[in-house]
Amino acid sequence: MLAGVIFDASELAVVDTPSEFWKSISAEDESVLVDSEFATFKRRLSPHYFQWMYNVKSLVVSEHVSFLLRNTPKMALVTNLFHRGHRATLAGRRTSTFDRWVDTYVTRLVWSYANSVDMSTRDVREPELGGALPIVADGHLVSQDLANSRIEWAAIKRIAGQTSFRSCVEIGAGYGRFAYLFLSVNPGASYTIVDIEPALSVSRRYLTQLFPAADLRFVAPRDINNLAGRFFDLGVSISSLQEMTPTQVELYLQLFDRCIHDGFVYLKQWSHWHNPADGVMHEFGKFPFPERWQRLAFERCPIQTKFEQGVWRLPDVTDLSRN
Ligand SMILES: C[S@@+](CC[C@H](N)C(=O)[O-])C[C@H]1O[C@@H](n2cnc3c(N)ncnc32)[C@H](O)[C@@H]1O
Repeated sequence: MLAGVIFDASELAVVDTPSEFWKSISAEDESVLVDSEFATFKRRLSPHYFQWMYNVKSLVVSEHVSFLLRNTPKMALVTNLFHRGHRATLAGRRTSTFDRWVDTYVTRLVWSYANSVDMSTRDVREPELGGALPIVADGHLVSQDLANSRIEWAAIKRIAGQTSFRSCVEIGAGYGRFAYLFLSVNPGASYTIVDIEPALSVSRRYLTQLFPAADLRFVAPRDINNLAGRFFDLGVSISSLQEMTPTQVELYLQLFDRCIHDGFVYLKQWSHWHNPADGVMHEFGKFPFPERWQRLAFERCPIQTKFEQGVWRLPDVTDLSRN
């Protein structure tokens, strides 16, 4: 089974055809590949991937804000009030100065929460490439994406009981926010992304500029057989499986199964998600996880409390034969 990643032509066609949901988002996002727009792609693309735009209404209705208010020390709730990030405009969005102030404040609370779960990544800076909003904490540029990636990385380390990895494959990486954090803290590791356009080209351009010497691979879904015989010690999907069709989800879980052994899979998805464009209702806990996967944890996420995250250990085949 682990000899290689072999999907037949009809399966490749399934993963390569974006769901209706992603067809419309991808069409909207294509223009960021033009040089003038790439300079600020984070302001345009990130909200389609994993960044929330907090505003004055969020202070009352957002479960993220309510989590952060309950889980941030009082002193940090006060000190984070003093910032200047609200002076930046959010490209293409009409937002009031007060909404931008709220967005910056909540982003700093997410950063502060990341510090509470893992200080070891506090000095990782948000890259200027991509035009992130000018939000500063701990004396450097930060972002909601970087803070969330730190929190996800902390969860992986805690549950897997391992602090470094050699090779990661990620399905649906967006512009590469988690890859950036992973490569910053695992120097010398390799990173492979499987994604559709335009995300695949954006992450390629972003990560190859930031890590010119790293071992990086960017693979379109129709080419995943090129991964045959390649093995990874970490597989990741964050908020990408739930927006696919059930058959695509099943095939991507099989992809992890075939190219990870003696390693781990980290998945973070909406616990329930209705995709009206494709007429699909997903329940994360009921995904068709292969039998050999050993579930180490499956829990509600901090901050995005309507998401769940899990880590599975995928033993080496030789371990399996011993059972
Ligand atoms: C909501 S975004 C999340 C991005 C990223 N994981 C993050 O958390 O910032 C979903 C990602 O899934 C990707 N995607 C959608 N359909 C896909 C498919 N058939 N195969 C691979 N990736 C796909 C999108 O291009 C996008 O990168």
